[in-house]
Amino acid sequence: MTQRTLVLLKPDAVRRGLIGEIIGRIERKADWRIAALELRSLDRGILEQHYAEHVGRPFYEPLVEFMSSGPVVAMIVEGERVIEGVRQLAGPTDPIAAAPGSVRGDFGVIVRENLIHASDSEESAEREVKIFFPGRD
Ligand code: PPS
Repeated sequence: MTQRTLVLLKPDAVRRGLIGEIIGRIERKADWRIAALELRSLDRGILEQHYAEHVGRPFYEPLVEFMSSGPVVAMIVEGERVIEGVRQLAGPTDPIAAAPGSVRGDFGVIVRENLIHASDSEESAEREVKIFFPGRD
């Protein structure tokens, strides 16, 4: 089942020089490929679209503030079962609950600075790809 997913390496990953480490883990998965990649700063407008489902949640404002605190790496990753696969590779939201071997388990401590975002379903992936890479159909 070939899929595509939207992956963001968050500002903490960029600041800490972990781009290569995380991209390396994605690239080493058999048959996955990076179809688009961009280093960019995110303004409030794009973050409001991306995190629309979380408006009003207690973590919403800290999340938007953090995600606009420095550049991110935005990527489309394509491949077999890539949506579930990148979520697995990232680990759960709270890095302390994430197993060693996952990106968050290996490098994260606090929830806000959890290094990586990955779409959680096919519907989310299509919506998020359109937000970050409009016109890439
Ligand atoms: S839920 O309830 O399952 O939809 O929420 P979850 O997927 O765990 O989290 C949604 C996004 O909010 C981020 N988050 C936070 N950011 C900053 N501070 C706090 N306390 C916090 N808690 C959750 C979480 O990392 C998710 O962002 P993405 O970009 O999807 O990883």
